[in-house]
Amino acid sequence: MAKLNINSTVRMNSGYDIPLLGYGVYQTPMDVAEEVTAHAVKSGYRHADSAAAYRNEQPTAGGLLKAGLPRSELFFTSKVPPKAINYDAAKAVVDESLQLTGLDYIDLYLLHAPYGGKENRLGAWKALVEAVEAGKVRSIGVSNYGVHHLEELEEWIKQTEEKEGKGKGGVLSVNQVELHPWLARDDIVDWCTKRGVVMEAYCPLVRATKIDDPLLTPLAKRYNKTTSQILLRWGLQKNFVILPKSVTPARIEENRNIFDFELSEEDMQTLKTGKYEPCSWDPTTSRD
Ligand SMILES: NC(=O)c1ccc[n+]([C@@H]2O[C@H](COP(=O)([O-])OP(=O)(O)OC[C@H]3O[C@@H](n4cnc5c(N)ncnc54)[C@H](OP(=O)(O)O)[C@@H]3O)[C@@H](O)[C@H]2O)c1
Repeated sequence: MAKLNINSTVRMNSGYDIPLLGYGVYQTPMDVAEEVTAHAVKSGYRHADSAAAYRNEQPTAGGLLKAGLPRSELFFTSKVPPKAINYDAAKAVVDESLQLTGLDYIDLYLLHAPYGGKENRLGAWKALVEAVEAGKVRSIGVSNYGVHHLEELEEWIKQTEEKEGKGKGGVLSVNQVELHPWLARDDIVDWCTKRGVVMEAYCPLVRATKIDDPLLTPLAKRYNKTTSQILLRWGLQKNFVILPKSVTPARIEENRNIFDFELSEEDMQTLKTGKYEPCSWDPTTSRD
């Protein structure tokens, strides 16, 4: 694989680039989000993954901007909350994010989960397509979409393009799902990879539940890395955008020190567990 560094990006179907290393802020309290995000930027991160539901978009964007780096070097993601998955609410939520953060545009906006039923899901997607047309958002995508949700969306995009013209159904750039060696989701990853849809890995550290796992500790010893770094490197070598969360300065730094080693193909194979063990919610299987 091409040699990666902390500034490595991948091109999305939208034509914009996304940094492979993102900084997650789920459960990062409002009153610390600015400081820890600013620390992440100082440590080399350029991409923050927030959401309206996290109630920290404002301080997270504030932390991202604090060092005065050019806006074009920074990347901010937000998401339409599950309860706002319909056309009107999704439209309003994008405007709220812009207002709260003071940003001129949001780099990536996702539907947080495939809830609300088919009509509302597609309505919320249409609201994101219009946000792109209005210049409020650059790239759009989904989160927690299983293959059946992705196929529903692909069909709608195809039909809309047939009726209204190329691009009118929007461009699917990203699917953000839980991904780690105990949940590799080959079906979703294959579907997205075939279509150039970037996979974002949430809970890439399995929420710190595998720190002493016997699958990871020998690798950590051999590569002279921590088990967290082994997990993050696995995600990078699977071509995922990784979104580790930490409010601890030393861990924020630890989690970005993953560009000076490479797991061998053989070691990547040992991390194929074949397990399906989510540590978070799992809307990918929802059927409403
Ligand atoms: N779209 C979705 O539905 C969805 C769902 C979940 C997550 N996400 C996104 O993905 C991001 C990451 O997921 P996550 O926050 O659930 O879990 P995670 O990144 O897998 O794990 C975070 C936990 O690991 C700890 N930690 C971080 N670095 C560590 C290290 N080097 N050594 C030991 N412990 C470490 C953190 O503690 P401290 O913070 O105390 O350091 C925190 O408790 C979220 O913040 C969010 O942006 C999205």
